[in-house]
Amino acid sequence: MAGTNRALVTGATGYIASHLIPALAEAGWDVLATGRRREPPPLPVGVDYASANLVKDDPWVFSGLMERVTHVFHLAGASSSLSDQREMEQVNIDGTRRLLQAAQPWPIERFVHMSSTSVYGEEVELPSPVPEDVERHPSRGYGKAKDGAERMVEEFAAGGLPTVVVRPVTVYGPGNVKLLASAILDVAIERFAGLDRIAVHATPIEQRLCHVDDVVAAAIHLATADGAVGRAFNVVLPQYPSSHEVAGMVADAFGLPVELVDDPDGGLPYDARAETHGRMVEAGMEPRILLSKERFRFLRKANRNNRLSVDALLGTGFEFTQTDLPASIAATVDWYRSNHWVLG
Ligand SMILES: NC(=O)c1ccc[n+]([C@@H]2O[C@H](COP(=O)([O-])OP(=O)(O)OC[C@H]3O[C@@H](n4cnc5c(N)ncnc54)[C@H](OP(=O)(O)O)[C@@H]3O)[C@@H](O)[C@H]2O)c1
Repeated sequence: MAGTNRALVTGATGYIASHLIPALAEAGWDVLATGRRREPPPLPVGVDYASANLVKDDPWVFSGLMERVTHVFHLAGASSSLSDQREMEQVNIDGTRRLLQAAQPWPIERFVHMSSTSVYGEEVELPSPVPEDVERHPSRGYGKAKDGAERMVEEFAAGGLPTVVVRPVTVYGPGNVKLLASAILDVAIERFAGLDRIAVHATPIEQRLCHVDDVVAAAIHLATADGAVGRAFNVVLPQYPSSHEVAGMVADAFGLPVELVDDPDGGLPYDARAETHGRMVEAGMEPRILLSKERFRFLRKANRNNRLSVDALLGTGFEFTQTDLPASIAATVDWYRSNHWVLG
């Protein structure tokens, strides 16, 4: 019952954890947050913090944390935006193995592992929508490292640890600094530079997204839902807007129209974007969102395995809340504006 549940959340300084920790506390869980930094991030009142490095610290450090909790939400991970292949493997695979080893002797009720849909890969065509039990063919370094972590989870699940694997797609929402956030920044930059329309490549590319509130709600739901143990769950909003539609939603939030153009590199070139970005920072913008070298990088990524089944998740009784994508993206832009992460 909520209130008696005690959660260990790894990756406490990360983006998804910054939403999960307050949501757990709000729902009455006791929360022990852990991250590798000595100083805790801002945490709700009553949430404890323990500094621990998954790769470097002795196993007894993690064993000591397991003693205090009933559930684990393992969110710590390294991705290609900040880490090389070696670090991605160390943190995702070795770090996950060490955490699982620490959990094994304790009566942990559920070990929720935050994986990623990158484990499916893009080179081998999979059934559409992709079900969770398909053979995985990760194609890039990050996907391979996340797949390696899942293999560790599977090994310990076979040994009796009650695990659940959560596989979200690209997560967006308040506080996010990459992917859709970078596309939002690109539009803000062009508006600040005085452009009166947003150029988008005429060839549409199907997108997929999930709001951080839905990822957090799914993780909490799966930590207690009957029938979830030993399984993996895709977490993606079952709507697939085109790049034109997503760009239109973002441009609309800045009061600009979209213009479809033949040039895939339409809009401002990088140097002009970087120069405008500098002026925005001088004008008071917090430079938190990553400025991608490639304009609208996120919207350009086609994936032959784009559509994912959420039958497993819906079958546990889960319901998505952020289903009105234009409203949800507009609210996200409003959050960036009011926190001065974008101007205009
Ligand atoms: N965001 C997405 O769109 C998305 C989509 C699918 C799956 N996921 C998965 O969801 C999880 C959380 O994602 P996120 O976006 O919140 O990630 P994030 O913001 O990059 O945070 C990653 C966290 O892992 C911590 N970490 C890295 N190396 C560590 C180590 N050696 N020991 C302890 N902690 C370590 C980081 O600590 P520092 O703050 O010190 O670096 C940070 O707290 C990840 O496993 C990711 O693969 C994310």
